Amino acid sequence: MIGMSESTTADRYRSFGRLEAQGNSPAYAARCEEIAEDAAFLAMLDGLPEPKRQPNLLFGAVRFLGGPVDERLRTWATTHWDEVSAVMLARSTQTNEPNRCASLLPLLARLPQPLALVEVGTSAGLCLFPDKYRYEYSGHPPFGPPSPVVLACRTEGPLPERMPQVAWRAGIDLNPIDITDPEQTRWLEALVWPEQHERLARLRAALAMARAEPRPLIVRGDLNEHLEELVARAPTGATTVVFHSAVLWYLTPEDRERFARTVRRLPVRWISNETEPGRVGGCTLSLDGEPVARTGSHGQFLDWL
Ligand SMILES: C[S@@+](CC[C@H](N)C(=O)[O-])C[C@H]1O[C@@H](n2cnc3c(N)ncnc32)[C@H](O)[C@@H]1O
Repeated sequence: MIGMSESTTADRYRSFGRLEAQGNSPAYAARCEEIAEDAAFLAMLDGLPEPKRQPNLLFGAVRFLGGPVDERLRTWATTHWDEVSAVMLARSTQTNEPNRCASLLPLLARLPQPLALVEVGTSAGLCLFPDKYRYEYSGHPPFGPPSPVVLACRTEGPLPERMPQVAWRAGIDLNPIDITDPEQTRWLEALVWPEQHERLARLRAALAMARAEPRPLIVRGDLNEHLEELVARAPTGATTVVFHSAVLWYLTPEDRERFARTVRRLPVRWISNETEPGRVGGCTLSLDGEPVARTGSHGQFLDWL
């Protein structure tokens, strides 16, 4: 995992299996235990640069190439190691989870409308369409426009009374996913864990929906390098909102600081939905730097503070 330095590759697989995969992906949890005990397989992984040895990247590469996630995985990956390692070297782990819009929506809806959205770390740009999804907040009637994509979230407390009006959508990503390129979206799909059928169906539906919409303005590059210029392009008369989810942990502490300094001095509102170092079990949702809620890492719950 980025930003996490563990003593050995075996430790890394063991802790990923026990802390992250356990309970979420029985297949990945079991494969991690097997790999952690397999010296020959670990030696192959150790032939890759350190950031490229991560479990999610290996498993995503095997599945991208059509390999199995059951007990045959190690044998299959060993036989196909040239292809597997080439995919691992060429690609990075990346998600795009539209369900995170269920965390963002209540804050977006309470800002002065219309909105000019700027998402840093936008991936395929699926969180730039919060106004195009239908929402099922627990215990409340479905909310939002009719949509092929329904987002579900457990919550109590204030919910939006109106949908945000979005006047403009823009994003920045080091590696934006082109949703019209089947190879790129197949990679995004290969990174959804094998048992998460609902997430995969949601991702596919959101990609299909986004393909039918006008393409947001998406800039390739580092968020710190491009934020100011993109904010300057936002239309006047709209509230510019810079937002991000599950992105800042990719950055060094210095780059995170630099980003926070920049966003604070720009004429924007700022919504952050990020994990906090040392805190497990979800993200903290903040508005203009003030924490307002805890959220599920995939938007599955929203607990107001
Ligand atoms: C885990 S994904 C989350 C994507 C999306 N925000 C979501 O919630 O579904 C993180 C994204 O941040 C991007 N990213 C990481 N570091 C970045 C940087 N320094 N500048 C721009 N994008 C970055 C990655 O390429 C990736 O697409």
